[in-house]
Amino acid sequence: MSAILSVADLRKAYSGVHALDGVSFEVEAGSITGLIGPNGSGKSTAIDCISGFQKLDGGKVVLAGNDITGKVAHHIARAGLMRTFQTVRIYERLSLRDNLAIAAQQFDPATWVDEFFRTRRYRDAVEASEKRANALVDLIGLRKYYEIETGILSYGQKKLVALAAALMPHPKIVVLDEPVAGVNPSRIREIEVALQQLNRAGETFLIVEHNVEFITTLCHRVIVLEQGRKLAEGTAAEIHKDSRVLEAYLGMTPEMAEAEMRGAA
Ligand SMILES: Nc1ncnc2c1ncn2[C@@H]1O[C@H](COP(=O)(O)OP(=O)(O)OP(=O)(O)O)[C@@H](O)[C@H]1O
Ligand SMILES: [Mg+2]
Repeated sequence: MSAILSVADLRKAYSGVHALDGVSFEVEAGSITGLIGPNGSGKSTAIDCISGFQKLDGGKVVLAGNDITGKVAHHIARAGLMRTFQTVRIYERLSLRDNLAIAAQQFDPATWVDEFFRTRRYRDAVEASEKRANALVDLIGLRKYYEIETGILSYGQKKLVALAAALMPHPKIVVLDEPVAGVNPSRIREIEVALQQLNRAGETFLIVEHNVEFITTLCHRVIVLEQGRKLAEGTAAEIHKDSRVLEAYLGMTPEMAEAEMRGAA
């Protein structure tokens, strides 16, 4: 296994607050990796700095062997790291098909000159984009909404539209900021299934999320932050047994966690 994303010694302070105080971790190609931690532990700061939406004070970010430290967001997106936002950003007046076409256009190599003259390059780009959109729509389970305005979809379905849009340019990794926050609990499973299908199809994800059950079900590996530092890292099972994580994150002692598990059994 090889790391597609590797971050080392990330540092970021906001007027004296050490939001990131030397954080290092890796995301394996083909994995779903979770980034969890209590409020204010530095999760959002970490993904904002990695994706170029915040400036780092120190550290290094390497994507598929390329040093992308300090690059601006659109450069990082072109290099293959896409992200979604906690609040959905899609074109609600446009259909799912059009949302995906626009997402592809931002990155395709055809220029307006190609478009005007309907060159071979333009036709190839459109064909490739339609093929990708068709595959993604099935993987997120929204085939029957393909031609419909996305504004009518549920909040969870809109999150799936944003996810598919992020995947249109064939990124190397997609970073998801709280993919199930604000989603009706009855629909969380749809997002879980979509991410599993996409991952089986080869996509790599780094997920920031407060919903521990969701992270536990999906993630091959989990990184736990606390006060700007990495507190623990391992499989979901390992993290659940870690007394530091239970105390810091779940606010439980190991005895309480065990009692809870016995109660659930
Ligand atoms: N723009 C900012 N200005 C000043 N301080 C900030 C800013 N953004 C974050 N912080 C501080 O940095 C620390 C880390 O915040 P961050 O938002 O990264 O945490 P988080 O893990 O994403 O928390 P949450 O789970 O609540 O989203 C916190 O102490 C926060 O108050
Ligand atoms: Mg946050």
